[in-house]
Amino acid sequence: MTDIFEAVRKDIADEHAAIIQYLYHAYATSDEGIRGKLESIARDEMRHFKWLNEWLVKHGQKPAIDRSSLISTGSFKFLIEADIKAETDAINQYIEHKALTGDKELIALIDRIIADEKSHRSEFEKILEELNSKDEVESNSSSSPSESPTLSAHEAALLQQALEHEYTSILQYLYHYFTTGSSDEYEDFSIDEMKHFGWFAEALAERGYQPLLEHKVGQIKVDPEAAAKSDISLEEQAIKKFSEAKERIQDKEVKEIFELALEHENYHSYSLKKMLEKMQESSVRKFTVGSLKDEEN
Ligand SMILES: [Fe+2]
Ligand SMILES: [Fe+2]
Ligand SMILES: [Fe+2]
Ligand SMILES: [Fe+2]
Repeated sequence: MTDIFEAVRKDIADEHAAIIQYLYHAYATSDEGIRGKLESIARDEMRHFKWLNEWLVKHGQKPAIDRSSLISTGSFKFLIEADIKAETDAINQYIEHKALTGDKELIALIDRIIADEKSHRSEFEKILEELNSKDEVESNSSSSPSESPTLSAHEAALLQQALEHEYTSILQYLYHYFTTGSSDEYEDFSIDEMKHFGWFAEALAERGYQPLLEHKVGQIKVDPEAAAKSDISLEEQAIKKFSEAKERIQDKEVKEIFELALEHENYHSYSLKKMLEKMQESSVRKFTVGSLKDEEN
């Protein structure tokens, strides 16, 4: 019999893959309406990822940030068909996993998620219908000219590096959101990084480059002070990279993205330093009070 924690970890890895798979597909189309729908479904999967991890951590488990395999390339119609299949597989798996537990909270959560996945599946089916009817129209007309990229390969590489940094930051902040006491701050930081991730990925996609959605998460620190220190160093790397990138990028819109992200990273770095100071002050205070008590005895 599968252990419920193992089952939930598998669900989370699949949610993680769904987020990234749908984002890949969102960046593979130039149809803004369809892209918006895919991004919105990916955001729902982010919530599923977050809620299931919260449940896991509440039950004394480590957060799960592994990712299952995903489908990122193929014709756009093939991708949407893969998404319909992903939703069907998810629904079936959730039904199986629900039967493994008597935990009322988890059952309620899974029911809610299943309802979302069903609605996603019908949205994907509608997109597929839309594509099929477009095909009929387009086969009678000549194909539209594709936009040419305005970014040099070197500039695109800077965007790609920034994107990888954002993905890493999102996972690290979510992990710290799940495991440290400073959840409000970490939740805000991860939301900011998700926005940056979207800006960089869209900027690449809109200029004809396929964004690569990979992260570089290593060993994540769990002790709150060590966590804050590693986050400060992550922000400092971002500040350095983005400052250099914004000088080298010619594209005005991309330059502005780097400038705004840079402002946010400066603020993150400042807030993290404040957070660390507070932790250090309170641990000194605890130590002092403890030492005085020892002296009294
Ligand atoms: Fe989901
Ligand atoms: Fe879904
Ligand atoms: Fe960021
Ligand atoms: Fe940041």
